[in-house]
Amino acid sequence: MLIIDIEQTMNYKKEIIRLKKEKNVLLLAHYYQIPEIQDIADYVGDSLGLAQKAAEAKVDMIVFAGVHFMAETAKMLNPETLVVLPDLEAGCSLADSCPLDDFKAFVDKHPDHIVISYINTTAAIKTVTDVVCTSGNAVQIVESFPRDQKIIFAPDKNLGGYINNITGRNMVLWDGICEVHDILTTEAIISLKEENPDASLVAHPECNAAVLELADYVGSTTGMLKYTEQSNQQKFIVATETGILHQMQKLSPNKHFLVVPSDETCSCNDCPYMKLNTMEKLYLALKNEKPAIELDADLIEKAKKPIERMLEISKKLKLI
Ligand code: 13P
Ligand code: SF4
Repeated sequence: MLIIDIEQTMNYKKEIIRLKKEKNVLLLAHYYQIPEIQDIADYVGDSLGLAQKAAEAKVDMIVFAGVHFMAETAKMLNPETLVVLPDLEAGCSLADSCPLDDFKAFVDKHPDHIVISYINTTAAIKTVTDVVCTSGNAVQIVESFPRDQKIIFAPDKNLGGYINNITGRNMVLWDGICEVHDILTTEAIISLKEENPDASLVAHPECNAAVLELADYVGSTTGMLKYTEQSNQQKFIVATETGILHQMQKLSPNKHFLVVPSDETCSCNDCPYMKLNTMEKLYLALKNEKPAIELDADLIEKAKKPIERMLEISKKLKLI
Protein backbone atom coordinates (compact mmCIF):
# COMPACT_ATOMS: atom_id res chain seq x y z
CA MET A 1 0.00 0.00 0.00
CA LEU A 2 2.75 2.42 1.05
CA ILE A 3 4.77 1.55 -2.07
CA ILE A 4 1.76 2.30 -4.30
CA ASP A 5 1.27 5.68 -2.51
CA ILE A 6 4.94 6.64 -2.98
CA GLU A 7 4.81 5.62 -6.65
CA GLN A 8 1.62 7.61 -7.17
CA THR A 9 3.17 10.72 -5.53
CA MET A 10 6.24 10.34 -7.79
CA ASN A 11 3.97 10.16 -10.84
CA TYR A 12 2.07 13.28 -9.77
CA LYS A 13 5.35 15.05 -9.14
CA LYS A 14 6.64 14.19 -12.62
CA GLU A 15 3.40 15.23 -14.28
CA ILE A 16 3.10 18.47 -12.30
CA ILE A 17 6.64 19.47 -13.32
CA ARG A 18 5.88 18.64 -16.96
CA LEU A 19 2.54 20.49 -17.05
CA LYS A 20 3.97 23.52 -15.24
CA LYS A 21 6.56 23.95 -17.99
CA GLU A 22 4.25 23.10 -20.88
CA LYS A 23 1.52 25.53 -19.75
CA ASN A 24 3.77 28.37 -18.51
CA VAL A 25 2.48 28.17 -14.94
CA LEU A 26 3.59 29.83 -11.73
CA LEU A 27 2.96 27.48 -8.82
CA LEU A 28 2.66 29.40 -5.55
CA ALA A 29 2.49 27.60 -2.19
CA HIS A 30 1.94 28.77 1.38
CA TYR A 31 4.17 27.42 4.18
CA TYR A 32 1.21 25.46 5.58
CA GLN A 33 1.01 23.18 2.53
CA ILE A 34 2.16 19.57 2.75
CA PRO A 35 5.95 19.13 2.21
CA GLU A 36 5.52 17.46 -1.23
CA ILE A 37 3.68 20.56 -2.52
CA GLN A 38 6.15 23.00 -0.95
CA ASP A 39 9.05 21.14 -2.60
CA ILE A 40 7.56 21.36 -6.07
CA ALA A 41 6.40 25.02 -5.92
CA ASP A 42 8.10 27.88 -7.79
CA TYR A 43 7.74 30.04 -4.69
CA VAL A 44 6.84 29.20 -1.09
CA GLY A 45 5.99 32.08 1.23
CA ASP A 46 3.74 33.94 3.63
CA SER A 47 0.63 35.87 2.57
CA LEU A 48 2.61 39.04 1.88
CA GLY A 49 5.29 37.39 -0.26
CA LEU A 50 2.69 35.38 -2.14
CA ALA A 51 0.58 38.48 -2.92
CA GLN A 52 3.66 40.26 -4.22
CA LYS A 53 4.69 37.30 -6.42
CA ALA A 54 1.14 37.05 -7.81
CA ALA A 55 1.08 40.78 -8.62
CA GLU A 56 4.38 40.56 -10.53
CA ALA A 57 3.70 37.28 -12.35
CA LYS A 58 3.86 37.22 -16.15
CA VAL A 59 2.57 33.73 -16.89
CA ASP A 60 -0.45 32.07 -18.50
CA MET A 61 -1.74 30.51 -15.29
CA ILE A 62 -1.16 30.84 -11.54
CA VAL A 63 -1.89 27.70 -9.55
CA PHE A 64 -2.32 28.66 -5.91
CA ALA A 65 -1.62 25.98 -3.33
CA GLY A 66 -3.13 27.84 -0.40
CA VAL A 67 -6.61 28.93 0.66
CA HIS A 68 -9.39 30.83 -1.09
CA PHE A 69 -8.68 34.38 0.11
CA MET A 70 -5.06 34.01 -1.08
CA ALA A 71 -6.06 32.87 -4.57
CA GLU A 72 -8.72 35.60 -4.68
CA THR A 73 -6.06 38.20 -3.81
CA ALA A 74 -3.83 36.82 -6.58
CA LYS A 75 -6.71 37.14 -9.07
CA MET A 76 -7.40 40.74 -8.04
CA LEU A 77 -3.75 41.70 -8.40
CA ASN A 78 -3.41 39.92 -11.74
CA PRO A 79 -6.93 39.89 -13.23
CA GLU A 80 -5.86 38.98 -16.79
CA THR A 81 -4.25 35.73 -15.63
CA LEU A 82 -6.12 32.49 -15.02
CA VAL A 83 -5.86 31.71 -11.28
CA VAL A 84 -6.63 28.17 -10.17
CA LEU A 85 -7.12 26.84 -6.62
CA PRO A 86 -6.88 23.01 -6.38
CA ASP A 87 -9.86 22.83 -3.98
CA LEU A 88 -12.43 25.64 -3.87
CA GLU A 89 -13.52 24.43 -0.42
CA ALA A 90 -10.17 25.55 1.00
CA GLY A 91 -11.54 28.46 3.02
CA CYS A 92 -10.38 30.12 6.25
CA SER A 93 -12.08 30.36 9.63
CA LEU A 94 -10.97 33.98 10.02
CA ALA A 95 -12.47 35.03 6.69
CA ASP A 96 -15.65 33.11 7.59
CA SER A 97 -15.87 34.92 10.95
CA CYS A 98 -16.52 38.24 9.21
CA PRO A 99 -19.73 38.26 7.11
CA LEU A 100 -20.26 41.41 5.02
CA ASP A 101 -23.66 42.58 6.36
CA ASP A 102 -22.66 42.21 10.03
CA PHE A 103 -19.36 43.91 9.37
CA LYS A 104 -21.00 46.85 7.53
CA ALA A 105 -23.34 47.38 10.52
CA PHE A 106 -20.26 47.34 12.82
CA VAL A 107 -18.47 49.90 10.64
CA ASP A 108 -21.59 52.12 10.59
CA LYS A 109 -21.50 52.22 14.39
CA HIS A 110 -17.99 53.76 14.22
CA PRO A 111 -18.40 56.49 11.58
CA ASP A 112 -15.14 58.36 12.22
CA HIS A 113 -12.92 55.24 12.02
CA ILE A 114 -10.87 53.94 9.12
CA VAL A 115 -10.86 50.17 8.46
CA ILE A 116 -7.68 48.09 8.44
CA SER A 117 -8.40 44.48 7.46
CA TYR A 118 -6.17 41.47 7.67
CA ILE A 119 -5.70 39.87 4.24
CA ASN A 120 -7.59 36.81 5.62
CA THR A 121 -10.95 38.25 4.50
CA THR A 122 -13.24 37.85 1.52
CA ALA A 123 -13.09 40.22 -1.46
CA ALA A 124 -16.44 41.66 -0.26
CA ILE A 125 -14.90 42.74 3.08
CA LYS A 126 -11.99 44.30 1.19
CA THR A 127 -14.48 46.58 -0.63
CA VAL A 128 -15.28 48.25 2.75
CA THR A 129 -11.63 48.37 3.84
CA ASP A 130 -9.23 51.33 3.63
CA VAL A 131 -6.03 49.32 3.78
CA VAL A 132 -5.24 45.62 4.00
CA CYS A 133 -2.40 44.15 6.07
CA THR A 134 -0.81 40.75 6.65
CA SER A 135 0.87 39.41 9.77
CA GLY A 136 4.17 40.35 8.07
CA ASN A 137 3.39 44.09 7.98
CA ALA A 138 0.40 44.65 10.31
CA VAL A 139 2.29 46.65 12.94
CA GLN A 140 3.93 48.90 10.34
CA ILE A 141 0.67 49.43 8.42
CA VAL A 142 -1.11 50.48 11.63
CA GLU A 143 1.82 52.69 12.64
CA SER A 144 1.78 54.41 9.24
CA PHE A 145 -1.35 56.26 10.48
CA PRO A 146 -1.25 59.19 12.92
CA ARG A 147 -1.67 58.20 16.56
CA ASP A 148 -4.99 60.03 16.87
CA GLN A 149 -6.47 58.21 13.85
CA LYS A 150 -9.39 56.05 15.01
CA ILE A 151 -9.12 52.55 13.56
CA ILE A 152 -11.32 49.46 13.23
CA PHE A 153 -9.15 46.33 12.95
CA ALA A 154 -10.71 43.15 11.52
CA PRO A 155 -11.23 40.25 11.63
CA ASP A 156 -8.60 38.77 13.99
CA LYS A 157 -9.02 39.99 17.56
CA ASN A 158 -5.79 38.24 18.61
CA LEU A 159 -3.64 40.01 16.02
CA GLY A 160 -5.49 43.30 16.66
CA GLY A 161 -5.07 42.93 20.44
CA TYR A 162 -1.36 42.17 20.00
CA ILE A 163 -0.89 45.34 17.91
CA ASN A 164 -2.85 47.43 20.46
CA ASN A 165 -0.59 46.00 23.14
CA ILE A 166 2.72 46.77 21.52
CA THR A 167 1.79 50.13 19.98
CA GLY A 168 -0.32 51.49 22.87
CA ARG A 169 -3.21 52.13 20.46
CA ASN A 170 -6.83 51.42 21.14
CA MET A 171 -8.14 50.06 17.85
CA VAL A 172 -11.71 48.78 17.84
CA LEU A 173 -11.52 45.03 17.21
CA TRP A 174 -13.85 42.74 15.29
CA ASP A 175 -14.44 39.56 17.29
CA GLY A 176 -12.89 36.95 14.96
CA ILE A 177 -10.33 34.20 15.52
CA CYS A 178 -8.39 31.55 13.63
CA GLU A 179 -9.65 28.19 14.87
CA VAL A 180 -6.22 26.59 14.41
CA HIS A 181 -4.17 29.11 16.41
CA ASP A 182 -6.66 30.26 19.03
CA ILE A 183 -6.95 26.79 20.65
CA LEU A 184 -3.24 26.53 21.48
CA THR A 185 -2.94 26.80 25.25
CA THR A 186 -0.39 28.12 27.72
CA GLU A 187 -0.75 24.80 29.65
CA ALA A 188 0.52 22.82 26.65
CA ILE A 189 3.37 25.29 26.14
CA ILE A 190 4.39 25.42 29.79
CA SER A 191 4.51 21.65 29.95
CA LEU A 192 6.71 21.55 26.79
CA LYS A 193 8.91 24.28 28.31
CA GLU A 194 9.32 22.24 31.49
CA GLU A 195 10.48 19.24 29.46
CA ASN A 196 12.67 21.47 27.24
CA PRO A 197 13.96 24.39 29.32
CA ASP A 198 16.51 25.23 26.61
CA ALA A 199 13.82 25.85 23.93
CA SER A 200 12.65 29.29 22.69
CA LEU A 201 8.98 29.85 21.90
CA VAL A 202 8.08 31.31 18.49
CA ALA A 203 4.41 32.15 17.89
CA HIS A 204 2.15 33.42 15.13
CA PRO A 205 0.18 36.55 16.19
CA GLU A 206 -3.11 34.69 15.56
CA CYS A 207 -2.46 32.83 18.85
CA ASN A 208 -4.34 34.09 21.91
CA ALA A 209 -2.90 36.83 24.14
CA ALA A 210 -1.81 34.46 26.94
CA VAL A 211 0.29 32.40 24.49
CA LEU A 212 1.79 35.52 22.87
CA GLU A 213 2.79 36.77 26.30
CA LEU A 214 5.03 33.71 26.74
CA ALA A 215 6.65 33.97 23.31
CA ASP A 216 10.30 34.89 22.70
CA TYR A 217 9.39 35.88 19.15
CA VAL A 218 6.01 36.78 17.57
CA GLY A 219 5.75 37.14 13.80
CA SER A 220 4.44 35.97 10.44
CA THR A 221 5.37 32.58 9.04
CA THR A 222 8.30 34.18 7.17
CA GLY A 223 9.29 36.07 10.33
CA MET A 224 9.32 32.89 12.44
CA LEU A 225 11.30 31.08 9.78
CA LYS A 226 13.98 33.79 9.64
CA TYR A 227 14.12 34.00 13.43
CA THR A 228 14.75 30.27 13.87
CA GLU A 229 17.37 30.31 11.09
CA GLN A 230 19.29 33.29 12.48
CA SER A 231 19.01 32.54 16.21
CA ASN A 232 21.88 30.88 18.10
CA GLN A 233 19.30 28.82 19.97
CA GLN A 234 19.17 25.13 19.00
CA LYS A 235 15.66 24.20 20.09
CA PHE A 236 12.27 25.87 19.35
CA ILE A 237 8.69 25.39 20.43
CA VAL A 238 6.60 26.40 17.43
CA ALA A 239 3.09 27.79 18.06
CA THR A 240 1.55 27.72 14.60
CA GLU A 241 0.45 25.31 11.87
CA THR A 242 2.65 22.25 11.31
CA GLY A 243 3.47 22.92 7.62
CA ILE A 244 6.06 25.56 8.56
CA LEU A 245 8.24 22.92 10.23
CA HIS A 246 9.21 21.55 6.84
CA GLN A 247 10.96 24.81 5.85
CA MET A 248 12.34 25.36 9.37
CA GLN A 249 13.97 21.94 9.29
CA LYS A 250 15.23 22.48 5.72
CA LEU A 251 16.86 25.83 6.60
CA SER A 252 18.23 24.62 9.95
CA PRO A 253 18.79 20.87 9.62
CA ASN A 254 20.64 20.57 12.92
CA LYS A 255 18.10 22.45 15.02
CA HIS A 256 15.25 20.86 16.88
CA PHE A 257 11.60 21.92 16.45
CA LEU A 258 8.68 20.99 18.71
CA VAL A 259 5.02 21.50 17.80
CA VAL A 260 2.60 22.72 20.48
CA PRO A 261 -0.07 19.99 20.71
CA SER A 262 -3.60 21.36 20.24
CA ASP A 263 -5.13 18.76 22.61
CA GLU A 264 -4.25 15.45 24.32
CA THR A 265 -5.48 13.35 21.40
CA CYS A 266 -3.54 15.16 18.70
CA SER A 267 0.08 16.19 18.36
CA CYS A 268 -0.48 18.30 15.29
CA ASN A 269 -2.01 21.64 14.41
CA ASP A 270 -3.06 21.16 10.85
CA CYS A 271 -5.23 23.83 9.23
CA PRO A 272 -8.12 21.74 7.82
CA TYR A 273 -8.48 24.17 4.90
CA MET A 274 -4.81 24.40 3.91
CA LYS A 275 -4.55 20.64 4.11
CA LEU A 276 -7.40 20.09 1.62
CA ASN A 277 -4.82 20.54 -1.14
CA THR A 278 -3.18 17.27 -2.18
CA MET A 279 -0.73 16.26 -4.92
CA GLU A 280 -3.61 14.62 -6.79
CA LYS A 281 -5.79 17.77 -6.68
CA LEU A 282 -2.80 19.88 -7.69
CA TYR A 283 -2.14 17.63 -10.68
CA LEU A 284 -5.82 17.73 -11.73
CA ALA A 285 -5.95 21.53 -11.35
CA LEU A 286 -2.96 21.89 -13.68
CA LYS A 287 -4.30 19.39 -16.16
CA ASN A 288 -7.91 20.68 -16.29
CA GLU A 289 -7.09 24.36 -15.61
CA LYS A 290 -9.82 24.49 -12.97
CA PRO A 291 -11.36 25.23 -10.53
CA ALA A 292 -10.68 28.84 -11.50
CA ILE A 293 -11.25 31.93 -9.35
CA GLU A 294 -13.98 34.01 -11.02
CA LEU A 295 -14.58 37.56 -9.82
CA ASP A 296 -16.67 40.26 -11.32
CA ALA A 297 -14.78 43.27 -12.69
CA ASP A 298 -16.60 45.72 -10.40
CA LEU A 299 -15.70 43.72 -7.30
CA ILE A 300 -12.04 43.53 -8.40
CA GLU A 301 -11.93 47.28 -8.97
CA LYS A 302 -13.15 48.06 -5.45
CA ALA A 303 -11.49 45.23 -3.51
CA LYS A 304 -8.01 45.55 -4.96
CA LYS A 305 -7.54 49.20 -3.90
CA PRO A 306 -6.76 48.46 -0.21
CA ILE A 307 -4.45 45.59 -1.25
CA GLU A 308 -2.52 47.84 -3.61
CA ARG A 309 -2.32 50.45 -0.86
CA MET A 310 -0.81 47.81 1.43
CA LEU A 311 1.78 46.86 -1.21
CA GLU A 312 2.67 50.54 -1.77
CA ILE A 313 3.18 51.16 1.97
CA SER A 314 5.17 47.92 2.28
CA LYS A 315 7.44 48.92 -0.61
CA LYS A 316 7.95 52.40 0.82
CA LEU A 317 8.91 50.87 4.18
CA LYS A 318 11.15 48.31 2.39
CA LEU A 319 9.20 45.40 3.84
CA ILE A 320 9.05 43.76 0.42
P1 13P B 1 1.16 34.39 7.17
O1 13P B 1 0.82 35.63 6.43
O2 13P B 1 2.03 34.62 8.35
O3 13P B 1 1.71 33.37 6.26
O4 13P B 1 -0.18 33.80 7.80
C1 13P B 1 -1.25 33.37 7.02
C2 13P B 1 -2.20 32.57 7.79
O5 13P B 1 -3.24 32.22 7.32
C3 13P B 1 -1.82 32.22 9.14
O6 13P B 1 -2.79 31.40 9.68
FE1 SF4 C 1 -7.24 30.65 8.11
FE2 SF4 C 1 -6.23 29.84 10.43
FE3 SF4 C 1 -6.06 28.24 8.33
FE4 SF4 C 1 -4.58 30.47 8.46
S1 SF4 C 1 -4.43 28.66 9.77
S2 SF4 C 1 -5.75 29.75 6.69
S3 SF4 C 1 -5.99 31.85 9.51
S4 SF4 C 1 -7.95 28.91 9.34
